[in-house]
Amino acid sequence: MNNFFNKNMKFGHFDDSNREYVITNPKTPWPWINYLGNEDFFSLISNTAGGYTFYKDAKFRRLTRYRYNNVPMDAGGKYFYIKDEDTIWSPGWKPCKTELDEYECRHGMNYTSIKGVKNGVSANALYFVPLKTWAEVQKLTLTNHSDAVKKLKVFSFVEWALWNAAADMENFQRNFSTGEVEIQDSVIYHKTEYKERRDHYSYYSVNVPIQGFDTDRESFFGLFNGFDEPQVVAEGTPRNTEAHGWSPIASHYIEVELNPGESKDLIFVLGYVENAAEEKWESKNIINKTKAKETIARFDTVEKVDAALADLRKYWDNLLSVYSVNSGDEKLDRMVNIWNQYQCMITFCFSRSASFFESGIGRGMGFRDSNQDLIGFVHQIPERARERIIDIASTQFPDGGCYHQYQPLTKRGNNDIGGGFNDDPMWLILGTVSYIKESGDFSILDEMVPFDNDPATATTLFHHLTVSFNHVVEHLGPHGLPLIGRADWNDCLNLNCFSNDPNESFQTTENKTEGTKAESIMIAGLFVVYGRDYVALCKRLGKADEAERAQKHVDAMIDAVKKYGWDGEWFLRAYDYFGNKIGSNENEEGKIFIESNGWCTMAGIGQEEGYCDMALDAVKERLDTPYGIVLNNPAFTKYYIEYGEISTYPPGYKENAGIFCHNNPWIMIGETVRGNGNRAWEYYQKICPSYLEEISELHKTEPYVYAQMVAGKDAFKPGEAKNSWLTGTASWNFYAISQYIFGIRPNYDGLMVDPCIPTDWKEANITRKFRGATYRISIKNPDSKSKGVKQLMVDGKTINGNIIPVFADGQVHEVQAVLG
Ligand code: BGC
Repeated sequence: MNNFFNKNMKFGHFDDSNREYVITNPKTPWPWINYLGNEDFFSLISNTAGGYTFYKDAKFRRLTRYRYNNVPMDAGGKYFYIKDEDTIWSPGWKPCKTELDEYECRHGMNYTSIKGVKNGVSANALYFVPLKTWAEVQKLTLTNHSDAVKKLKVFSFVEWALWNAAADMENFQRNFSTGEVEIQDSVIYHKTEYKERRDHYSYYSVNVPIQGFDTDRESFFGLFNGFDEPQVVAEGTPRNTEAHGWSPIASHYIEVELNPGESKDLIFVLGYVENAAEEKWESKNIINKTKAKETIARFDTVEKVDAALADLRKYWDNLLSVYSVNSGDEKLDRMVNIWNQYQCMITFCFSRSASFFESGIGRGMGFRDSNQDLIGFVHQIPERARERIIDIASTQFPDGGCYHQYQPLTKRGNNDIGGGFNDDPMWLILGTVSYIKESGDFSILDEMVPFDNDPATATTLFHHLTVSFNHVVEHLGPHGLPLIGRADWNDCLNLNCFSNDPNESFQTTENKTEGTKAESIMIAGLFVVYGRDYVALCKRLGKADEAERAQKHVDAMIDAVKKYGWDGEWFLRAYDYFGNKIGSNENEEGKIFIESNGWCTMAGIGQEEGYCDMALDAVKERLDTPYGIVLNNPAFTKYYIEYGEISTYPPGYKENAGIFCHNNPWIMIGETVRGNGNRAWEYYQKICPSYLEEISELHKTEPYVYAQMVAGKDAFKPGEAKNSWLTGTASWNFYAISQYIFGIRPNYDGLMVDPCIPTDWKEANITRKFRGATYRISIKNPDSKSKGVKQLMVDGKTINGNIIPVFADGQVHEVQAVLG
């Protein structure tokens, strides 16, 4: 292992009482970002104010421009330039990079504040998207801490994107001619394409009179300067330019005079408006500004802005009060109570579309991803989960297959990627069942939901679950195991692709799917777990025949796995196109994989025969590392055309023996199924970001959120993370810790208490709001056990079994569970 990194390198600290991560050194190893907005209007913002804004869909409604993979990294954002005599600086250090006397960035729950101090002046820029608002509000507070009067020149800056972020980055023969703006009072309006097919515009306002502005980018920067050195700012004089084509921007110029000790606030609103066709215009070519003005007026004083921020904080108080723990370990508590749940909201909102690793152009909402995201989110706002389930199911096909992705703006399946990922349908059962167990709302099953968004095909959601289940049953291979299709959960295991053309995608090419034999043992385990859920649901609904039919298929799958999916010491991963084993001791590389061993042990397949114990021990021995469990071992060192993309990654990265954090919790849960709380906890800690804060320089990504991947043991820098924020790692880790390690698990009939904790934990306390009551659950472990509730008391009375009944009485109930 390489040890070139200063292991004790932190760039900030947690402030748990404010639910913030406080960055005190702007030179983080990678931009450490946050998300503003959680409904329709969103911004990404880094610790140096880089990032961008969009409405609903980062591809189709991009408001401000961002250039990924730029030099330097993270150039472009919502910048303030302050000119104080000859010194030009920005509160976030970047883009000017003038050394600051003090710097602090606080990332909180959907807000970020960035403070810089220079030459006796402090500038605090607060950024957030108020609830139910299509706008980002920025409050810039300037304070003079010096003894002299300060005459500051303040320039704001945003750069407009021309709506479709993909076209914005490629079609310059058109783009350089279309840009249009309007300037009225202190508001700059961006109205490109408004006169034709668009009914939307954006605007950037400030709540004081301005002394000038610029909207033409090259006039503002000068053709030869970067973000760090706008010519207009250097000269200290705006040019009052009106953009015609080229690249429109919005920059206000404001002169601020501050007496010693004086503070002034400037409030900026960056917003979006949609107008009905008949209300588009105020007069010829002059846009109707009514809605913009209404929004601006909602935030034109400090009191109004502070009240909106207080509302946002209250909103999060409420969301985070549904599940909280008091374990005595602050690193654990801050993840469970704050950051992991927050990340689950973010993955719910964005699926895998827009982060600093996902460009917002490539992917929309994933079918499998969004279903899995629900398991970490459904307890926060069940109603939104319900709507999401219906949106997802509406992109399914009548045979149970489905579009792999859909666009958030249109909610239509994405034809470029299509379907054929044979794990996809099963995740709809997980999403739906999780919703019902949380809410008790079985009526969702009666909702009429179309196939492929065609209203004529609408059928009950329950029927969608049936076709999901059947899709697996109807696509079995020669061993009675599920056919893999284009890929299963592992997008890079492309067993029917045989691609030797570098210009085609591994995901969408399937040269040999017809008559294929490639089978997935991962889908087999998944089918057993959620097939059982389907059976249980059928029984609840009184559909005994369907339950019996489904149970037979589940039993047959268990038999097939035992017969053809067991390698002797662990579960096989797959059979390839030719019927050869993958993930077997017989293989030279890729002898053992995490996914099938996770799912088959979660399903408890072959538990009696000792298969689960053996498989989990093999995972420990062959896949575990100091930074988490790698996906496969040995890593592939050459391209196997019959395996596809997995073998294209250098060893230790991504799906080729990287620590793919999404699937580590499958092993944690597998360990809890067999009752090994010590192991589950060890795995949990290894990838949990708050425990990695001390090695931030190596870890590289934010210490407050999970990354998709950490480089594995075969990589150049084991322990280095990539692709933070948008990953199923968020929901699966929350699910593992909350429902399987603490063991507080919603169930149709109540709240199950089934912890599996480390033997040296003496006690843990959880507060859980569930279906209209609050449960204060205290787990006691006098005999140093991991699992097994020997006594459950609710409000002082012993309950048979381990399920707390539903009280729905708005009261607080005291629960005591004793392990033994
Ligand atoms: C995708 C997931 C997939 C995972 C593993 C992620 O990038 O969003 O759908 O399961 O990679 O391949």
